[in-house]
Parts: sequence; C-alpha cells; structure tokens
Amino acid sequence: MYYIGIDIGTSSVKALLIDSGGRVIKTSVPEYSFQTPKPLWAEADPLDWWEATQQAIKELLLKVQSSEIAGIGLTGQMHGMVAMNKEGSVLRPCIMWNDQRSHLECDEITERVGQKKILSITGNPVLPGFTAPKILWTQKNEPDLFALIDKVVLPKDFIRYKLTGSFFSDVSDASGTSLLDVGKRTWSQEMFDCMGWPISWMPEVTESTEVSAKISAEAATLTGLLEGTPVVAGGGDCAAQAVGSGIVEEGKVSVTLGTSGVVFAQSDEYRVEPNGKLHAFCHAVPGKWHVMGVMLSAAGSFQWYKNQFGMEEQRIEKEGGANAYETLTKEAQQVIAGSEGLFFLPYLSGERTPHPDPYARGCFIGMSLRHQKKHHTRAVLEGVSYGLNDSLSMMQELGVNPNEIILSGGGSRSALWKQMLADIFATPCAMVNALEGAAYGAAILAAVGVGGFGTVQEACSSFIQKIETVDPGPNLETYKRNYPIYKSLYPSLKAQFAKIAESNALNS
Ligand code: XUL
Repeated sequence: MYYIGIDIGTSSVKALLIDSGGRVIKTSVPEYSFQTPKPLWAEADPLDWWEATQQAIKELLLKVQSSEIAGIGLTGQMHGMVAMNKEGSVLRPCIMWNDQRSHLECDEITERVGQKKILSITGNPVLPGFTAPKILWTQKNEPDLFALIDKVVLPKDFIRYKLTGSFFSDVSDASGTSLLDVGKRTWSQEMFDCMGWPISWMPEVTESTEVSAKISAEAATLTGLLEGTPVVAGGGDCAAQAVGSGIVEEGKVSVTLGTSGVVFAQSDEYRVEPNGKLHAFCHAVPGKWHVMGVMLSAAGSFQWYKNQFGMEEQRIEKEGGANAYETLTKEAQQVIAGSEGLFFLPYLSGERTPHPDPYARGCFIGMSLRHQKKHHTRAVLEGVSYGLNDSLSMMQELGVNPNEIILSGGGSRSALWKQMLADIFATPCAMVNALEGAAYGAAILAAVGVGGFGTVQEACSSFIQKIETVDPGPNLETYKRNYPIYKSLYPSLKAQFAKIAESNALNS
C-alpha cells in the first residue's frame, strides 16, 4: 500500500509517494510563479496550481499502480483567499499569505469586532496575511466581483475541490482565516455575523485525519488516480510540516527554514499569548493545538541575497561546481561570529512575528570599510537566526521550554546555519530522517486517516527517527551579547520604516 502527500507551495507543488513503512518512493515538484503586480501585493492563479498538481500526480503514478494508492493527504500555503462563484469558477487570482495590502482592513475588522473578542475567539489578532482582511479588501475594492462570491476556500481546499468535486477544509488551515473559533475548532458564527458575510461561503471543517472526500471520475481521468481513492482533510503547511518532523507531543518544538521561517510548538491545551504576538492555531493532530511564530523572509532572505549578490557563486554552480548556497556559506564561515559588528534585519517583505508590520524593511546595520561580501553573507544568516529566536523567547515566556529543537526546511542543510541556530537558541538542535516537510506530514495524515495507523503519534514514531544533534558551541557568548542589540534595532527604526513607506507611495 502507498500514500500520497501533496503540498500546494508558494512556488511549486510538491507531491510525494511513500510506502506503508514511510519510505519515500518518489517526489515530483513542478514549479509555478506568483505575481507582485503592486507594492505589498502577492497573487497567484489557482489554475496554475491545478495544472502542476495533475502533472505531479501523473509522475508519481509512473512508479505504482493507482489501485495501490490507499489514501491522499493535502497541505499547502495557508491563509490565501480563493474566491469562487456558484459555477465553481475562480473569480480572481488568489490573494496569498505574503500579500500585505489589507492592513487597513485589519484595523477595520478589529474595530468592528473588538480586539479582545477577536483574540478570545480566533486566538490571534487580525493580520494582513490572514484571510478575513483579504475578503474585506475585496468587498471594498472589487464590489462587483465580491457580489458573485459563493465560496471562499484556502489553496489546498481549492485543489481538493478539483480532485473530488467537494468543498472541505481542516481545522489547522482554517485557523489562519481569522474566522475560526480556534478553541472550539469550528467556524465562528459570531465573526461572520459581525462581518455580515454568510457562513455558507465556508467549506465544512473537520479534523485533519478525517476522510473528507473521494477522487471524482473527472479527476481520475485527468490524473490517472482511481475514482473513489480517499482524500483526507490534511492540514495547513505549518501543521503538516510539524507532523512530518514528528512535532506531535506537548513541549516538542521545531524550527523550519523555508521561504518563511516557522517556530512551532505543539500544545495539548489551547494557549493564547496574551498580546497575540504568537499565533495560536489548531494542530493537525486531532484535538491538539499549537503556538507558532512566523518570520516572513527566512531562507527567503538568503535566497534574495544569493540572487542579488551571489553572481559569482551562481556562475560556479552553472559551470558544474558547488551549489551557490554552499559556496556562500563556506565564505561566511571564514568570518567570526557576530560578523565584526554587522547586523542584518530580515524584514524584506515586512514582518509577522514578533513585529506585525507590513512596512518593516530589510537593513544592513553597522557596515564599515572592513566589511566584505562574506561578512554580509554571515550577517544575513545571523539576522534570520536572531529573528527566529524572538519567537522562541516568547514561547519560553509562555512556559514552553524545549530541551531540543528539531530543524527542518532547506536552510537546515547548512552545517554553519545549524550550529549558529544551536548557539543563538542556546539549545541543542536536532535533525530527523524525514526531510520532505509538509508533503510528508500530509502523507502521514492520509495513512492515519485510512486506518494504516491508530494515531498520528503512532505513525510518526514508526516513520521518524533522530539522525543528528548539534550542541550549542563556542559562539554562545558572542550571540548572547549580540542578540539584545539585534532586538533593539527594530524599535528604533519602526517610525522611520513607516515614513519610508509613505514617501515611497508618493514617489511611485
Ligand atoms: C503560516 C504562513 C506561511 C505560509 C506559506 O502562517 O503564512 O508559512 O503558510 O508557507
């Protein structure tokens, strides 16, 4: 028997085939792009995701018979608004998780519902990344289109509709809409009443391991899957990633270095950070929750840096030499911890945790004539690590005290970055054998959903083992001194970031 996990990512879909022992048999990762038509905007065509998903599934099915697929799990980028009409057509490009246009709408929703009430119902303040302010933005700016809305679905749930013809969501993904009662794990009638929107827009919401629908005849023809193959509800990519790294018990913590950076702790209880600075969401483990900090540009900062300044390193890679990231990190390794006083603020697309501020921007601070490119490279890695430590520190204040942190995501392949994180977190960092991320978590949810395992915990302990631990090392003291300096930089620049944004809007 085999299981498929499908992750509708920001720049690619990742489909993964595993066997009943959790071994990865094949992955397929067709890419697509998203658009930034205006400052602060990020949009994508959901039909591009569907095209890529069909291609990815067909590639997996070159390895096994469709009759051998016992179940499929879906995951994907969270928060995106896919608005659909009565006929099931998409009304406009998806407004994505990293779109920051709706900050005024966040204020309006907060005013209408009340800050305290929002925090108590949804576990979180309303943030521009989340779904509800995007709906309100559409209502105010595209009223004709808004009038045609019949369904609002999240990215992976759009793909579920294409695969099965049914509308369903799961509690972990739905937690990022600002419309779910996160404590009760159901849509909040109160939020819909306050906003004047029909709750019927939303798909039925279930726990992540529920078999929500089955592959339709039409999708079977398009993908090669067997009609009737069960599809479980799945989860938002953060929760599914955590399942895929074994973060399925109280107190376990992971840090994922993807485009965004996620610090994630499972919680048996519904815990809300009193100022709403950490996200409090339902976990993909039935009946459990999690707290989470999200940095918008984590490995994304390093990718931006490589693309803009790593020409030489990219040339070496193109000519068959080492990967550009590896060359850059090797250069950064020659620099002492603390980058000789150079700091980087990773707010390239604004920030979410701990500074929910669409206007925050990236900076190098402390440059001198001594600083070379390699110092800047190291400063980027250090800045991202300090930013992740902001989330971890808040979790520690909430009483989450992990004795180790599981690292995952592309960035965690670098030995330098792993050691840096262990030093800055002052906590051992471990790697597990399962490196396929959210798609792997979705496949695990499928395995549990169709009865291959009794619980998510059981499946994880059978599939996931620790393979490496990095202990905090000699740079602990340097980072202990430098982290408070990093922490003080955003507050001293906050007002200037807003002025820059204002002037920039007038200039463009
Ligand atoms: C989570 C978040 C991102 C997206 C994209 O809150 O915004 O991690 O899910 O991966």
